[in-house]
Amino acid sequence: MIEIIKDKFSILFENDGYKSLAKFILKNKFNKILILTDNNTKDHCLDLFLSKVKKTNNDAYQLISSSSFNFSVKSGENSKNIDTSNKIWTFLIDKGFKRNDLIINLGGGMISDLGGFVASTYMRGIKFINIPTTLLGMVDASIGGKTGIDFIGIKNIIGTFQFADIVLIDTEFLKTLSEDQFAAGYAEMIKHSLISKNTQWNKLSKVNSLKEITKEDIYRSINVKIDIIVKDPMEGNIRKHLNYGHTLGHAIESHLLGSEREILHGQAIAVGLVLETYISYLIRKLDLNLANELKIHIKKHFKMIKFSEIDIEKIINLLIYDKKNKSDEPMFVLLNDLGNVEINQSVSVVDIKKAFNFYQT
Ligand SMILES: NC(=O)c1ccc[n+]([C@@H]2O[C@H](COP(=O)([O-])OP(=O)(O)OC[C@H]3O[C@@H](n4cnc5c(N)ncnc54)[C@H](O)[C@@H]3O)[C@@H](O)[C@H]2O)c1
Repeated sequence: MIEIIKDKFSILFENDGYKSLAKFILKNKFNKILILTDNNTKDHCLDLFLSKVKKTNNDAYQLISSSSFNFSVKSGENSKNIDTSNKIWTFLIDKGFKRNDLIINLGGGMISDLGGFVASTYMRGIKFINIPTTLLGMVDASIGGKTGIDFIGIKNIIGTFQFADIVLIDTEFLKTLSEDQFAAGYAEMIKHSLISKNTQWNKLSKVNSLKEITKEDIYRSINVKIDIIVKDPMEGNIRKHLNYGHTLGHAIESHLLGSEREILHGQAIAVGLVLETYISYLIRKLDLNLANELKIHIKKHFKMIKFSEIDIEKIINLLIYDKKNKSDEPMFVLLNDLGNVEINQSVSVVDIKKAFNFYQT
């Protein structure tokens, strides 16, 4: 796996990645380093990370050991808010962090969004490194420069565009991740395979168990996102391709949030992908075989969600609150074919209902 070096950021992989990370840390001579974790990544990932740095470059390890602080927050989306940000900013001030210091975000997307937001606003922006420890973090949240927190109940409504200086991908962190969390990240990998021409869907569609997912698959998935964000970092046009499956996925996630049937974001996106692929067949003449193949695959790897007529009505009502909609009318990203994407597509309520029917049969 070759490191991906762009103007504004680098994506590094595995052992060579630790070497480059060590060089970056030594070259910048940081006085202070904050390692942000949540309670799970503190328990499962912090020692592993430090031991790998030590094995790679003892000088960098010594620098981190002597100058770093660990700040750990409670795991879960509830920590991604302004109160936690306040606590971290206050900690940085108390410890005397300056413009040329560093934050290392060691965790899933919650940590990289929160830590990236804090870093990009503290003293108008200090350097930060993302070390994703979930599959979703690796293929999606840690790359692409979006940081943010939830505010007054609205997800990611406050945030910045700021690339992490380095993203280090080490799949060894995934060993302690739960199967559900792994599957949640896999949904984004499926999305990447559908919106790209790289034939990865042909490979993924044959996966029988998620244990078959390889480092190479993860690498290819990351590359799909990188190719897009490099062309359109501020989501003017083609970055919207990454919202495939998310219009209905978000609405499903919001509808079930806080109920006994609450599901992970990735599980909601998996259903959203099936629905929007069927809608692509209805509106963009996408091959129905692809929609069927995807439905079978998603039902194999994700638990089936049952939607009543009332659920579907409520989900449709929620669509108008999707922040990506320019008007009151829900806008969809649809497929003409594998890797051939259309943005700003309007879809009728009738077609949305047909798609739910397709998913449930
Ligand atoms: N910025 C972006 O472009 C972007 C893109 C997609 C998602 N996101 C954000 O990412 C977040 C979701 O990310 P996530 O799914 O990684 O969730 P998460 O960070 O909450 O992690 C999920 C769970 O896994 C635990 N965990 C993390 N790594 C572990 C490990 N190696 N071993 C054991 N447990 C581990 C965490 O403690 C948590 O309980 C959401 O807040 C979402 O808004 C951001």
